[in-house]
Amino acid sequence: MNVRDSDAVAAMLVAAGYQQAVRENDADLVIVNSCSVRGKAEDKAIGKLGLLCAGKRKRPDRKIGLMGCMAQRIGEDIFKKLPLLDFSVGTRRCGAIPQMVRRVLKGETNICEISAAEAFPDVPDTHNETGHSAFVTILLGCNRRCAYCIVPDVRGPEYSRPAHEILAEISTLASHGIREVTLLGQSVMNYGKMNDVWHSDDPYGTNGYKEPFTRLLEAVASVPGINRIRFTSGHPSGCTDELVHAMRSLPQICNHLHLPFQSGSDRVLKMMRRGYSRADYLDAVKRLRSAMPDFSLTTDVIVGFPGETDAEFEETRSLMEIAAFDNAFIFKYSPRPGTPAAEMIDDVNDAEKMRRNQILLADQDIRGQKLNQALVGTVQEVLVDGPSLRNSERWSGRTPGNKIAVFTPVKGVEPGSIAEVRIKRVAPQTLYGEIRGVLGSNLIIEYSD
Ligand code: 5AD
Ligand code: SF4
Repeated sequence: MNVRDSDAVAAMLVAAGYQQAVRENDADLVIVNSCSVRGKAEDKAIGKLGLLCAGKRKRPDRKIGLMGCMAQRIGEDIFKKLPLLDFSVGTRRCGAIPQMVRRVLKGETNICEISAAEAFPDVPDTHNETGHSAFVTILLGCNRRCAYCIVPDVRGPEYSRPAHEILAEISTLASHGIREVTLLGQSVMNYGKMNDVWHSDDPYGTNGYKEPFTRLLEAVASVPGINRIRFTSGHPSGCTDELVHAMRSLPQICNHLHLPFQSGSDRVLKMMRRGYSRADYLDAVKRLRSAMPDFSLTTDVIVGFPGETDAEFEETRSLMEIAAFDNAFIFKYSPRPGTPAAEMIDDVNDAEKMRRNQILLADQDIRGQKLNQALVGTVQEVLVDGPSLRNSERWSGRTPGNKIAVFTPVKGVEPGSIAEVRIKRVAPQTLYGEIRGVLGSNLIIEYSD
């Protein structure tokens, strides 16, 4: 979500006549986009801003701004910590940034634009991405109020964008060469539940979908040029039969879902107020897997929630084995001020949180390797990004299952191509292979193996 918001702000500033610096050091304006979801993320942003502000001694004309969740959470108090910060903008006021930059350039400083969390949000719809994939925000805020989570406080209640706005944005992206969109929302399957998103004159799709989110998926799939659709994050309650059906029947939807489970223990899930049980979660996984062959599943999990016993942690461990996650983001619980869980005693000490974290990481490494091993010899359709970060001789891209595939480029394959890559060997999070051909072209490469 923050990557998306940063991109929208960059695009607004470029449209206002500014130029994007290639290196941070060249920039006359630096805006830090902050996350509040864990204490460590906030510490990092404060550390970075401290360095940037200290740098003003040598570069007094350089302007420094803060945006995102931490700006929203801390409000005006941020200037007590960072008196040299020029401006701070809350989550629902991104649109105000170009105008704030103008004021700062005229000499104002310490400007703060924080709106009430329930204020109507500025909807980020500008894009600056280069490449062939784009994020599209469809739902802002969150209404769930999981006990540990600061997001509903800092991003406000749910607001779903009208479908026609989203579709216009995606059509424009497609006309600029975007082939893959990822629809974003904190609880993305809740799209259209809290406010109307379809107008009476919007065309209905041919599949007769009734749920607003599946209707949107069908409409996005009909945008010419969009070959791949992803969405994140999911919640088990949103994995309805209609959604599973849409994922199976619309070929553009990737066979991948990011479905955070957070804990494998019913008692902990209840304390977390997640709104589902272990059995509910596993049932959703079962329905997804039986509908889609080669379905890839990724997740988020928290270790060391207040009161989590060793036996409950073992339930988390066993759920991960049963669900057979392709990848998992593992987080140590971090109390967030003002959340219900912050009232509970944070009684799992840091060493124990670290131990649990390491165990899940090690399990996941073995599991990832094993699941990827089964892909050796298969041909995967890879949306090509270009030279890989580590080694520019090698190129990389992503499979529909959202796995990184690395291969040696050949003539006729370009960033944005969908290449057929035959997998030769694997690591827990990476596939390595050879190009066999490119979809939509008659390039066919034969290897004598
Ligand atoms: N402590 C640790 N992890 C958290 N997450 C959200 N809030 C917290 C917290 N207070 C994790 C959840 C969520 C992911 C984005 O961050 O796993 O899915
Ligand atoms: Fe936070 Fe829960 Fe909303 Fe996700 S669904 S943003 S974890 S409150």
